[in-house]
Amino acid sequence: MPGLTAYGGFYEVCAPKKGEYVFVSAASGAVGQLVGQFAKLMGCYVVGSAGTQDKVELLKNKFGFDDAFNYKEEPDLNAALKRYFPEGIDIYFENVGGKMLDAVILNMRVHGRIAVCGMISQYNRDQPEGVHNLMSIVYKRVRIEGFVVFDYYPQYSKFLDFILPYIREGKVKYVEDIVEGLENGPAALIGLFSGCNVGKQVIVIAPQ
Ligand SMILES: NC(=O)c1ccc[n+]([C@@H]2O[C@H](COP(=O)([O-])OP(=O)(O)OC[C@H]3O[C@@H](n4cnc5c(N)ncnc54)[C@H](OP(=O)(O)O)[C@@H]3O)[C@@H](O)[C@H]2O)c1
Repeated sequence: MPGLTAYGGFYEVCAPKKGEYVFVSAASGAVGQLVGQFAKLMGCYVVGSAGTQDKVELLKNKFGFDDAFNYKEEPDLNAALKRYFPEGIDIYFENVGGKMLDAVILNMRVHGRIAVCGMISQYNRDQPEGVHNLMSIVYKRVRIEGFVVFDYYPQYSKFLDFILPYIREGKVKYVEDIVEGLENGPAALIGLFSGCNVGKQVIVIAPQ
């Protein structure tokens, strides 16, 4: 499911072109780690954000991101994005929402695309955070489009034909976070919201 999400969201919603500048938030997560690798396969320049230094190293050293940063150590996200994208962002693969989205909007290039996959920073808030920089969408002619993976299930076998050779050849890698025992499921679920997981959180309930 996360793979198909990355596939549909990146190739169809983002409509990427070789050489474009791509930013992925929650980049070490199940979806983000694949989006970054698809961007590299397409010949894009890709930077990811994540919440620990270990995740930043994983993005650069295992998944082949051109660069990565720890958003928790950046007091000014706008300044951070300007540092990593001095020429601006063509494609933003949105996983987190909130302050990151606001900062990204300021850094989009003309005719940029924002594929809204999710907004994990907003899921547990009583009041959603506002986004303040929307007028930049007009000046920059940015397209913002949400999507859900269910729309791409008819393409599942096409996706497998695409991804399996890359995985077999080691050109696409993935990391799963495996916890054993149904009793550990609730803590693992809650851990998603503080970044405890690295990659797809899997609960093994019946090891074979
Ligand atoms: N549209 C769809 O059909 C579809 C399908 C699947 C998933 N999604 C969405 O796509 C996004 C990514 O899913 P996923 O399965 O790849 O994620 P995941 O593997 O569950 O990882 C979630 C990661 O999000 C980060 N995070 C948590 N709270 C955050 C916050 N307040 N601010 C910034 N980052 C935060 C954490 O990493 P850090 O350590 O980096 O903070 C955490 O490890 C989610 O929003 C999910 O809801 C949408």
